[in-house]
Amino acid sequence: MENGKDVAAVGNRTNQSRALPKRLIQLLLLFLGLCFIFSVVSVYMIRLYGAKSIVATLNPSLQACAGEKPFSLDRWIKPPSDLLHSMADQELFWRATMAPQIKKYPFDRVPKIAFMFLSKGPLPLAPLWERFFKGHDGLYSIYVHSVPSFQADFPKSSVFYGRQVPSQMTEWGKMSICDAEKRLVANALLDINNEWFVLLSESCIPLYNFSVIYHYISKSRYSFVSAFDDPGPFGRGRYNLGMAPEVNITQWRKGSQWFEVNRKLALSLVADTKFYVKFEEFCRPACYVDEHYFPTMLTIEAGDQLANRSLTWVDWSRGGAHPATFGAADITEQFMKRLIEDQTCMYNNQPSSICNLFARKFAPSSLEPLFLLAPKYLGY
Ligand SMILES: *[C@@H]1O[C@H](CO)[C@@H](O)[C@H](O)[C@H]1NC(C)=O
Ligand SMILES: *[C@@H]1O[C@H](CO)[C@@H](O)[C@H](O)[C@H]1NC(C)=O
Ligand SMILES: *[C@@H]1O[C@H](CO)[C@@H](O)[C@H](O)[C@H]1NC(C)=O
Repeated sequence: MENGKDVAAVGNRTNQSRALPKRLIQLLLLFLGLCFIFSVVSVYMIRLYGAKSIVATLNPSLQACAGEKPFSLDRWIKPPSDLLHSMADQELFWRATMAPQIKKYPFDRVPKIAFMFLSKGPLPLAPLWERFFKGHDGLYSIYVHSVPSFQADFPKSSVFYGRQVPSQMTEWGKMSICDAEKRLVANALLDINNEWFVLLSESCIPLYNFSVIYHYISKSRYSFVSAFDDPGPFGRGRYNLGMAPEVNITQWRKGSQWFEVNRKLALSLVADTKFYVKFEEFCRPACYVDEHYFPTMLTIEAGDQLANRSLTWVDWSRGGAHPATFGAADITEQFMKRLIEDQTCMYNNQPSSICNLFARKFAPSSLEPLFLLAPKYLGY
């Protein structure tokens, strides 16, 4: 009996150990079967709906991540929230010259003036400009190009806060100045609502209140680019035959660099590569490229759209290679009158007594007397 018991016990054990792998194999087969069914179903569903929706159905958290709001026009018409970017010039210019081919905007567009400051570093006359811009939000944008090492420290409340564009070193009279001007225009073009582009320096002041300046620029049939044919040694004398055939001597122009252009001309400035290479190679000191490149190029491409004069007054009457700089002692009531009186020019083919909207060059010391006299004489 004891033996039998033993045998039975042994027999029982062997039965158990034989049954266990059988169970395992059944489970394994079931698992493989499920895997097979699942993969067949997934392949079928991927064919039917595409991979993304399957992933999304299986993983709701992924869906939340990939499914931002479906994009609306806002994405293209909202100005960049931050002027800093990591685009190289080549990339920036390419992006900036993308332009819609349909004239009518499918949204309420309030055209703005882009005020572009080409400065060495600080803007000593900023308080004057702050007062000028006050109350005109939505009608202007500001861009500042300074030496790359300069750290602007405008308070958050300032109109200049965060308006610095990625900058590079510049040298007067060299191509790097035109590069900086193009960089300013290109950054300003990224805002689709900028319609007019004014280049200014840190020593410039506005001569009228904002409403007058906005009206004058927005109602003008022409862009204010100074461009004239100077037959002398400092004009045609700087022309180099290497520029032909792109630039013929009769098309060679000279002019002050402080321009105002509309969006269409701004696009052609940034897009130009044809004239750029010629000027880079053949207009080197004593040919000052900032006095010739844009005036000549724009005359060739759109001469009939230019007023051929600048909006920025400067005083050459003291003689010499540089125009006069005005300091505190120069800013008298008589001087202020002189700034705005005795102007005559053509505006939209009619004689006008408002010709210069801006003036230079003003030293930092002129700020205090200007600040006091501006309300009475300049209207801001
Ligand atoms: C701006 O100046 C013009 C002309 O001096 C004046 O008529 C107008 O009222 C001024 N506008 C504002 C908002 O001060
Ligand atoms: C320059 O252009 C003018 C008019 O477009 C033409 O009459 C003249 O022959 C050209 N001069 C040269 C040197 O090509
Ligand atoms: C400016 O000069 C160009 C020729 O260089 C001419 O075609 C154009 O009519 C001039 N603009 C005005 C407003 O006179």
